[in-house]
Amino acid sequence: MLFVCLGNICRSPTAHGVFESLVAERGLAGEIEVDSCGTAHWHIGEPPDERSIAAAERRGYEMGHLRARQFTPDDFDTFDYILAMDHSNLANLERLRPAEYDGVLDLFLSFAPESGVVEVPDPYYGDGDGFNAVLDLVEAASEGLLRAIAGR
Ligand code: 4NP
Repeated sequence: MLFVCLGNICRSPTAHGVFESLVAERGLAGEIEVDSCGTAHWHIGEPPDERSIAAAERRGYEMGHLRARQFTPDDFDTFDYILAMDHSNLANLERLRPAEYDGVLDLFLSFAPESGVVEVPDPYYGDGDGFNAVLDLVEAASEGLLRAIAGR
């Protein structure tokens, strides 16, 4: 399970932390590999944005240990699910997708159709509420994703 955004410091690490916590809670930690990355290189090696860490912590998720990395085409060999936070990042991944990739490459929020939202809004330049909005969407999609893969 690979979550992808632009910088790998706000949205995808939030998905990483929330989904990892859900997987652990359901006793599936040994079975599902969870990771995140960015399509951009700007923040490689950095921890998540402190506003993301703080918002997640208020809901009991720990993500301060995560470090940003950039997507690499090798990720298509490693991950059966590559889930992008918005259309722009999905389009960048589609361009790199090898013809033989037979995993799921889609928007993360396709697993939260009830949200009525298709992209996780980038909170980086906005006010603090954006980080809680990210968490609301990520929690909903994480539940939907786990339901979908448990039902396979
Ligand atoms: P993310 O947010 O893609 O959710 O990690 C962003 C982080 C940094 C930048 C843009 C979006 N930036 O322009 O540096």
